[in-house]
Formats: sequence, structure tokens, C-alpha cells
Amino acid sequence: MDRDRRAAITASLQRMTGDLLRAAPESLSPHTPFIDMGADSAMLIQLLSRIEARYGHRIKIRDLFDELSCLAALAAHLDQGPPPAHAVPTSAVVQTLADSAPTVATTPAAPTAPAAPTAPPHATASAQQAHHLQALIGRYTRRTAQSRALTQQHRAELADSRGVAGFRQAIKEITYPIVGARYRAARLWDVDDNEYVDIAMGFGVHLFGHSPAFVHQALLAQMETGFGIGPQPVLAGQLARLFVKLTGTERVAFCQSGSEAVMTALRLARTATRREKIALFRGSFHGHFDGVLAQSAGGDAPSAPITLGVSAGAVRDVVVLDYGEPSALDYLRAHAGELAAVLVEPIQSRRPDLQPRAFLHELRAITAAAGTALIFDEIITGFRLHLGGAQAFFGVRADLATYGKVPGGGLPLAAVAGSRRFMDGIDGGQWQYGDASGPEADRTFFAGTFNKPPLSLAAALAVLGHLEQKAPRSRSSSTHAPASSSTSSTATCRPRARPHRSCTADRCSASCCAATSSCSITTSSIAASTSGRAAAASCRPRTPRPTSRTWSPRSTTAWPSWATLVSTQNPGR
Ligand SMILES: Cc1ncc(COP(=O)(O)O)c(C=O)c1O
Repeated sequence: MDRDRRAAITASLQRMTGDLLRAAPESLSPHTPFIDMGADSAMLIQLLSRIEARYGHRIKIRDLFDELSCLAALAAHLDQGPPPAHAVPTSAVVQTLADSAPTVATTPAAPTAPAAPTAPPHATASAQQAHHLQALIGRYTRRTAQSRALTQQHRAELADSRGVAGFRQAIKEITYPIVGARYRAARLWDVDDNEYVDIAMGFGVHLFGHSPAFVHQALLAQMETGFGIGPQPVLAGQLARLFVKLTGTERVAFCQSGSEAVMTALRLARTATRREKIALFRGSFHGHFDGVLAQSAGGDAPSAPITLGVSAGAVRDVVVLDYGEPSALDYLRAHAGELAAVLVEPIQSRRPDLQPRAFLHELRAITAAAGTALIFDEIITGFRLHLGGAQAFFGVRADLATYGKVPGGGLPLAAVAGSRRFMDGIDGGQWQYGDASGPEADRTFFAGTFNKPPLSLAAALAVLGHLEQKAPRSRSSSTHAPASSSTSSTATCRPRARPHRSCTADRCSASCCAATSSCSITTSSIAASTSGRAAAASCRPRTPRPTSRTWSPRSTTAWPSWATLVSTQNPGR
């Protein structure tokens, strides 16, 4: 063994890992497991792609949870050089950003010898941990035996990222999705007849619980008249009118999935601006469209794909910035004029505590001055956080916004909505019969067989109609102080069961201000909706802040209209 070479590899791995974890390389002990360093699957995928680029050595992510679980082991492995050609795994690291719960899965290797019936406990687990794990696996597999059996039974035919999500050898025996059988209100039952309270809310879809009566009835009524595809559905125009009214946007186009809506929003931004580059933020999730599956390659290097199967070209024009950080604003101040769009997930589902109000206002100002589209991804926040979504919550009007999940009431429906300047790229804009008018704006390509399916439209009309009736007409745009006072003020909270603590206007602790009747953001349900984890709701602001602006549907005086906001701020309009 060449000690110098091994040390050099270790140091290089420390630098890569430190860069990804935002930690000083020397603070990372070569013997600390990656998990204990705070690494998650997405970060490990990035590490592996850097290792592959640097050493030409492809490693499977699951190995980082087993025999290569720390820097020292990884360095020793790399020091031995790449495996012989015939041993290069045919499988690959794949990041599965399926549905709304980003997970990492490794594709199984080419068929090998059958696995042992029970997985050995994690190599580094203590005897007590191993014992606990085995007992848990025993209880869990007995209780959900049908889900497990069905998953195994159909694995050969059903290529399913959910069936392998989070695969690790140590927990292999409990790696299968729960198979649902019945759903009602806040509960669901699996095929073993276990009853669950559904805190994941269908990844954020079921705002009113499962099968709410008003959606059920709308669907039955639509079933009676049919659900044909082809002619323009009679409900499309009605839904568009209600949609723009509630969201305060000018125009809307419907599609099937949030990923499609994001793809369309970016295409519209590029069409209107004739620019190609876009910026988005580290830690955000925008679905599985190739053009957003980018990671920073460090320095001035172009972004790189975060997963196999995405070409380098697909993300070459994507700049990945740090959310809520001054460095991002500095970059944008210098380069916004080169960008077609800045795409933001205003409250990242992975970090619901980060709510950078002042940052978002500054983003709005910079993009408006540069004629760059500000796109809010409201696929989780839309209709949930507020009728006007995160835009109303933060008091920031985006040029384009993407929606999904809630409006479809459980059926597939997503939307991109926004100002005419950008939305006219779909159809050329407004014109009428009987005169010389016609579609004036330059158009891009937008299509989809299932863009306006009658059943989804009927469900969405029922959902939006319900929200229109029941949602508060005028509501705080935030329980927090306006941006201008954010640095000096803190909202003191009164925990229900914990010592006093406080949160700043920009950083609201999920366990501090979530899911209370007086807090308009239920960060716990946001977290739960995307990760299946419920955050504790423990306190509420002691003194509700005076509201800087109220929200009500479009064309009220309380909320600036598009005309005022966009034309004064956006010279490109
Ligand atoms: C913020 C955000 N954007 C986009 C998407 C992608 O939506 P879909 O899964 O409908 O493609 C998701 C899905 O969870 C999301 O949370």
C-alpha cells in the first residue's frame, strides 16, 4: 500500500465531501460514517458522480451504506484502482425523484445468486441495535405481510421506483410500499386491513382528506355525462376563470403533472425572454423534468446532472445557487440579465423552516429590473398555504407559478399560470372574431393528450369552488413581520409543551410555528406531505403581527394588480 497515495485520496474525498456538506474538510473524520456526518442520499449521489468523474470508478450508492460507509473505507477501495472491466457493475446509481418524496434507489444489479432470506444487520450496528432491528423487521413484516408478498409477486413485471426506495441491505426485508386497499377522510387501510391515519396526505394532494363528498359527487356527475377526450371540455373555461380569480394570476394552462408544469413554465420564460440560462436553488425539488435535475459542479464549471440518464446538455444552462444566501443575490445582481428565469420553491419541502421573506422580495426586485421571469413553484404551497399560495403569503407576485397536487382533488391535474407576457407564449394571446386581430405573441410548443381530462376538470372545479366558498376572503399575508423589519424583530413563541423559544421572520422553526390555528403556514403538513414525516406542532406566535397586506381574489385594491406590479417593475414588458 502506498501511504502517500492513500492519504492523497482521503484528502481529496474530504474536500469533495466538505464541499457538498458545507463543512471544513479537516473537520470530517475519515472514520465517521457518512450518515453521521449528516449526508443524505442526494448528497451521496453527488459525491459518487464526482468520484466517478475524478477516478473513473463507479460505485453503487448502497455500498456507501454498507462496506464503504466512511471516507477511510472509500479511500481504501479507490486506492485499489478500478475493478476489472468485466466486474464493472451493470447497475447504476439512480436518483428516483418519483412522486413527491425524493428518494434514492439503486437499480438492482444484473441477476445474481438469490439473496439470503433475511438480511444481516448493518455491519456497524451494535448488538443492541441489531437485535432491535431484527425484532422490528419481524413485527413489521408480519403485520404487513400482504403488501410485502404483492411487491415481490409483481416485481418482475412492474418496474417501480417505490418498491426499491431507500434500499439498504440492512433493511432490505422491510423495503416495500404499503399497498392501499381503502381510503376515507383522514384514514386509509392496507391490504392486510391495518388502519392508518394518513399524515402524508397523498404527498400533499388530499387537502380535504380522502374522497371528500363534494369531489365524489362531482366525479359521479361527470361519469354520468362521460369523460371523453377530444372536443374542448365544457368545464375547461369555467375552471380557468375560477383558477385565475383565486390565484390572482392572469392566465392559466392545464397539464397533468407538476413536472410538466415546471417544464412548461421554463419553456415559456425562455420563449418570452429569448434567453437560455435559468437559475434554481440547491435543496429545491421541482419534479423529474430533465432540465431541472442539475447540481452545481463547483466554481465556474457548468452544472452537472444529478442522476444518470440526464444528458450534460440538458442542464448546461442551469445555474444552481444557494437558497436564502446573500451569495445568490450577488450572483443574480451581476447575471440576472443573462437569465430567462429564476425558479424558486419558496418554502423548500426539505427545509420548511427556511422562509426567506426578504430574500424573495429582493429576488423579485432583481428579476423585475432584468426582465427575467420569476417562477414560483407552488406545487406544494398553492391553495394550501393560502388561497394565493406562497406569493400571497410572502407578498411577492411571481411572473409564472406552477400548481399541482391540491387542485385536482386526487385526480391528476397541474397548471402553469401567470402574467400575459409569459402565458401568451402558449397561444399567442388575446384576439377576437369579426376584426383583423390575431395571436400576436410568439408561441412555443405546448401539447398533451391528457391536458384537460373531464374527470380531472370536474374534480378541480369542485375543489376550487369549495375553496372559494370556505377559505377566508381576507387573510394575513403572513403572521410574521414585513421584510423591512425582519432582521430586528423576532416573534416570540409560546410552546405548548416546551421552554420558550423564538423564531425570526426569515427562519421560522417548523416545531415552533407549525400547524396552529393562528399560523397560516402549516409547515408540518408540508413536511409530511413530501416526506411522510410529521413535524411536531408545538407553539404559536404570542402576538400576531400586524399584517402588511391582505389577500383576496384578484382585482381588489388590497393586492396590487398585475398591471401595477409587473409593468412598473418589469422593463421588458
Ligand atoms: C415543489 C414541487 N415541484 C414539483 C413537483 C413535481 O410534481 P409531480 O410529482 O406532479 O410531477 C413536486 C412533487 O412533489 C413538488 O413538490
